[in-house]
Amino acid sequence: MKSNPPSLDSDGLDRSALPAHLAMIMDGNGRWAQKKLMNRVKGHEQGADTVRMVVRTCREIGIACLTLYAFSTENWQRPKTEVAALMALLKKFLVAERAEMQVNNIRFHVIGEQERLPADVRDEIQRTRDATKTNNGMVLSLALSYGGRAEIVRAVREIAADVQNGRLRADAITEDTLIGHLYTAGMPDPELLIRTSGEMRISNFLLWQIAYAELFITPTLWPDFTREELIDILKQYQARDRRFGRV
Ligand code: IPE
Ligand code: IPE
Ligand code: MG
Repeated sequence: MKSNPPSLDSDGLDRSALPAHLAMIMDGNGRWAQKKLMNRVKGHEQGADTVRMVVRTCREIGIACLTLYAFSTENWQRPKTEVAALMALLKKFLVAERAEMQVNNIRFHVIGEQERLPADVRDEIQRTRDATKTNNGMVLSLALSYGGRAEIVRAVREIAADVQNGRLRADAITEDTLIGHLYTAGMPDPELLIRTSGEMRISNFLLWQIAYAELFITPTLWPDFTREELIDILKQYQARDRRFGRV
């Protein structure tokens, strides 16, 4: 049977072939600021505007799930002042964006070690999650104090406890068992991973989940990333041949 013609919009994007889950490594804020002889924190502030634009754009074009890498387990090793500035910015973002998430029917989710975050940030996360929990237009998932290896270790510990308590047989453990214990349980794997600022690495992001993601690395620094570039990358994604090991 012939399928329907692609629903190409005026921007050339096929709305029927979008990634259900888009993941982004938001990198290059510090270099953006340094190039302008400004403090790195200015780069993070500018980067927050890009976050707003990307969330809005993804919601508008119909991406079901957007995961943004905002703070890694390794980022705790940055200078205290920068970590504090990032946490303050995060809090400000949550307070400011909650209303728009409501209007746009966005459900807020967090992946990562939330227990390591400052109490005031945890409170705002909880408020945002509660306020948006029945929304179903898009899931916005922020990776905060997130590390892919730590996530897998945590899952393995939970599974081991189930085996120890006799709730699960070791030989009954499958890929789905592990998937069910990841922070991303219930979400599809990202089909597309975009990293800004040109670094050719994964930096401990979604190690399990990106097994078959299409990778796209752009030299653009995160604060300079635009809606046009995002749509262009999505179009390139749609033109790729995803073979999944087959011919
Ligand atoms: C990304 O920008 C934001 C975080 C990692 C929190 P960076 O701060 O890593 O910017 P660069 O890579 O130093 O330019
Ligand atoms: C990855 O960026 C983490 C986030 C974007 C939150 P980093 O700037 O921390 O990664 P490296 O140091 O280049 O690997
Ligand atoms: Mg960086």
